[in-house]
Amino acid sequence: MPIASRAFASFKYRTGTEPLFERARDSYTKYRQLFEARQLYGLTPPPRHLQERILNGYFPQYFSSGRQIAKEILSLVPGTPRRVLDFGCGSGRVTIAVSKSLPNASICATDIDAEAIDWCREHITCAEFDANSHYPPTRYSSGSFDLIYAVSVFTHLPEKMQHDWLAELARISCGRLVLSIHSRHHYQHIPPADVDKFLERGFYYLECGTTDGLPDFYQSTFQTHDYIRSEWGKHFEIEDIKERALGWKNHDAVICRVR
Ligand SMILES: C[S@@+](CC[C@H](N)C(=O)[O-])C[C@H]1O[C@@H](n2cnc3c(N)ncnc32)[C@H](O)[C@@H]1O
Repeated sequence: MPIASRAFASFKYRTGTEPLFERARDSYTKYRQLFEARQLYGLTPPPRHLQERILNGYFPQYFSSGRQIAKEILSLVPGTPRRVLDFGCGSGRVTIAVSKSLPNASICATDIDAEAIDWCREHITCAEFDANSHYPPTRYSSGSFDLIYAVSVFTHLPEKMQHDWLAELARISCGRLVLSIHSRHHYQHIPPADVDKFLERGFYYLECGTTDGLPDFYQSTFQTHDYIRSEWGKHFEIEDIKERALGWKNHDAVICRVR
């Protein structure tokens, strides 16, 4: 944490004003979200607990981050996709922004989180939402989508489940996929004693506690680019891996194509 932030945090703590600052920050978040949701999409923001479930916090940038990621994803694929799937859409932060950028595309979105999907179905009309099971298959026919993206989904799944879902995504794709993985700067979360093992094997599944509302398997996963090329390469042609290309430099983007 930068020195200025540390000093400010200590000031708030010592003077007992921390709760006051937190309340002010939450109010700012609430009103900025309300304003953006209404102005941009004519809706109300998803409830706070659904946002916290996917972002691990409550942030004023909920909608702007969705817009930024949508822009980044669409800049990574050629042409104008017409049939799009948001795999692991959460409360539709990115889905809604993608649908704005692709007004003529048919957009589907799916997640294991039935509560988030119920909220999306009730509030977002520009996409068709589904709740999928923890394990494949989905209800979609083979070759349904010319663009499938998954933002921060394969960053949470154990290895066998990743392979099962990659095979399913390969089945329902007829074009490109953009799948996010943790960038190198996230490797700091791997326990130091395991880093060498991780770098040799290329895959690490960190069990770091459960997330309210999501199943126990939802943990933190890290993969090296060599691992992606050899293991994910069994399912798709890996066209490119762009470092820190998604979410304001937060995640790497794996750009895949069905063979
Ligand atoms: C970090 S959140 C990201 C949500 C959304 N992509 C976004 O960026 O706002 C990860 C999401 O993946 C979903 N998820 C995890 N495993 C899944 C699976 N097997 N199938 C579909 N969704 C899954 C979770 O329920 C959660 O909504």
